[in-house]
Amino acid sequence: MPEVSVRQPDALYERVKPFIPAVEWPVFADEVEAISELKRSRHAVILAHNYQTPEIYHCVADVVGDSLHLAREARRLSADVIVMAGVYFMAETAKLLNPNRKVLIPDLEAGCSLAESITPEDVRALRVAHPGVPVVTYVNTSAAVKAESDVCCTSSNAVRVVESLGVPRVLLIPDRYLAANVARQTPVEVMAWDGRCIVHERFGLEAVQTLRREHPGLAVLAHPECRPEVVADADFSGSTTAMSEYIDRHHPAAVALLTECSMSDNITVDHPEVRFIRPCNLCPYMKRITLAKLRRSLESLEHEVEIDPAVAGRARRAVERMLAL
Ligand code: 13P
Ligand code: SF4
Repeated sequence: MPEVSVRQPDALYERVKPFIPAVEWPVFADEVEAISELKRSRHAVILAHNYQTPEIYHCVADVVGDSLHLAREARRLSADVIVMAGVYFMAETAKLLNPNRKVLIPDLEAGCSLAESITPEDVRALRVAHPGVPVVTYVNTSAAVKAESDVCCTSSNAVRVVESLGVPRVLLIPDRYLAANVARQTPVEVMAWDGRCIVHERFGLEAVQTLRREHPGLAVLAHPECRPEVVADADFSGSTTAMSEYIDRHHPAAVALLTECSMSDNITVDHPEVRFIRPCNLCPYMKRITLAKLRRSLESLEHEVEIDPAVAGRARRAVERMLAL
């Protein structure tokens, strides 16, 4: 039987102790130490999305943020190996922007319901049905779908991207709720696809209103992938990083983040003054990434993300066009 580590909780533990019992920390600490050593020997960095668990977000990530931030940072990195603690489309975006680096995703099943909702053939059919209408594609899609698009967007720049095209009508795919939420903020006509995020579509207006009654003064922050009636009722709507910045600026006494559960967990550490009311939903795709899988990925250099050269150039152009805005 392996010897049980008797290491005492350390400084890192302070950041995750609300989520990890002290008795379990030595097991986590061993993984953290091994990952840190592997990052050094492999010249690797870990990019982690805001929905990753606290031990990943606070203990092993080199860069944390929303989809836009991770894409921008991926472009600036000088590491030999990039490990995406996030979902597959994020790893693909990192690879598009770093074609000569090794990009790894620790679990190939870390997908996304939005990315799965649309194929390149669907986009080509949309273009035939709506000739001349530009296609704005949410980054939560495969590289093959991006390749059929004019430009990409994320939840933090979708309105700006739509308006940058200077046209009266756009297709904004594949999230129907994001498209509806963008449509409310622009005179541009926004046509949608019927994709949904299985995490955000579960937040309903009635439940939110009940929360407001139970917690007078509650600040409700909704991700733009939530239903339009939920976003319209919220005090603020923005990307995961925009929500975090709202809390930095406003320090609400009580807040409900209508998004994935780890968001509140990760932010609460730096905001002990804020009470997080947690009507959250877990993203089963994001939760496929664990410390053990990150360690394995760094040890075996699996799973390497490869993008078909027939689509990579066109997909990169759509992402670069967004980043240039
Ligand atoms: P952000 O770009 O806001 O981080 O959102 C990514 C995502 O997958 C939300 O579900
Ligand atoms: Fe996709 Fe929704 Fe999970 Fe984000 S939270 S990765 S949009 S399924």
